[in-house]
Amino acid sequence: QKGGYPHFMIKEIYEQPETIRSTILPRIKNKHIPDFTADGIPDTVFEGVNRIVIAACGTAMHAGLVGKVMLEKLLRIPVSVEIASEFRYQEPIIDKNTLVITISQSGETADTLAALNLAKEYQGTTLSIVNVKGSSIARSSDYVLYTHAGPEIAVASTKAYTAQLSCLYLLAFRFALVKRTITEEECVNYMEQLQAVVPAIEETLKFDKKIEEICKNLKEKEDLFFIGRGLDYALSCEGSIKLKEISYIHSEAYAAGELKHGTLSLVTDGIPVIALATQDSVFSKMISNIREVRARNAFVILVTNGEKEVDESIYDYHIALPELEDSLAPFTAAIVLQLLAYHTSVHRELNVDQPRNLAKSVTVE
Ligand code: F6R
Repeated sequence: QKGGYPHFMIKEIYEQPETIRSTILPRIKNKHIPDFTADGIPDTVFEGVNRIVIAACGTAMHAGLVGKVMLEKLLRIPVSVEIASEFRYQEPIIDKNTLVITISQSGETADTLAALNLAKEYQGTTLSIVNVKGSSIARSSDYVLYTHAGPEIAVASTKAYTAQLSCLYLLAFRFALVKRTITEEECVNYMEQLQAVVPAIEETLKFDKKIEEICKNLKEKEDLFFIGRGLDYALSCEGSIKLKEISYIHSEAYAAGELKHGTLSLVTDGIPVIALATQDSVFSKMISNIREVRARNAFVILVTNGEKEVDESIYDYHIALPELEDSLAPFTAAIVLQLLAYHTSVHRELNVDQPRNLAKSVTVE
């Protein structure tokens, strides 16, 4: 069942090249253009949309945070990401020109389903990104874009997350093409880059042993930080939840520029800081932030997109991901964060696949 792997989680981490391929390829039509005809999503869905709301919980919500960046970049319309359990009790600003995207692996999360039903009450168009076929959220949505991640058994979500990112990127490309905010040529280019994610993840998985080594330094820690800017902040949120849920180590995700507005006081000798610096546009700012935590003797694990010239004194470990276009770095960075959480949990001899107090599908409110 575990295909020779010690846990479902690591098996599912390794399945990602395949699950991303299965999610993307069936949606590629002539000349690398994303096409949702077979999914029953006509282009008319995107016409007239002037706002997008993404509602989800946990890791699925973190996928939404990454999706927001890409959707706003390509569409130039506002996108908000809402925690479903908050959103459902508010009076949302939604009308017939709002596209409400709900994201859920199980398709059964009670709060996400309630958010979806609320969106329908307000006349929004609903589209869900779901893994489990025929689940409640899929059945209740106007349109469904399925992730083809296959069954996810480990409680900590891994392959569903990157499949959700794949769907969000495909949606952004098609939507932008329909809205004419990108040309067909640009779309083809984006799609080629998206497909390059698959071999890049295969390369990233080769860091497995190195990450296992790094995690020996984390297993006795009680607190740690993930820091990043932009897409790397969205990724930090995901890295933090993953580590918390299976290693039981307290961690916080911080937008790197916010550290000095309070939290830097918690950065003391030996505190691990996982610093994600995959985005060129804010790279030098990130390096300054890393210097700030380093000056307080933090134990720094630096992750960059490709080899970067960085002063060796500012980190303890450096993982240089195979280089991708910056907007796609979340795919490879996610693999590193999943492996960090996994190996830390294994070193602590915890129940990786079934962490305490958590269930795979949260059908209670
Ligand atoms: C974290 C995790 C959870 C789920 C959340 C939503 O690893 O798995 O945070 O992402 O409970 O679940 P779905 O996607 O089934 O709606």
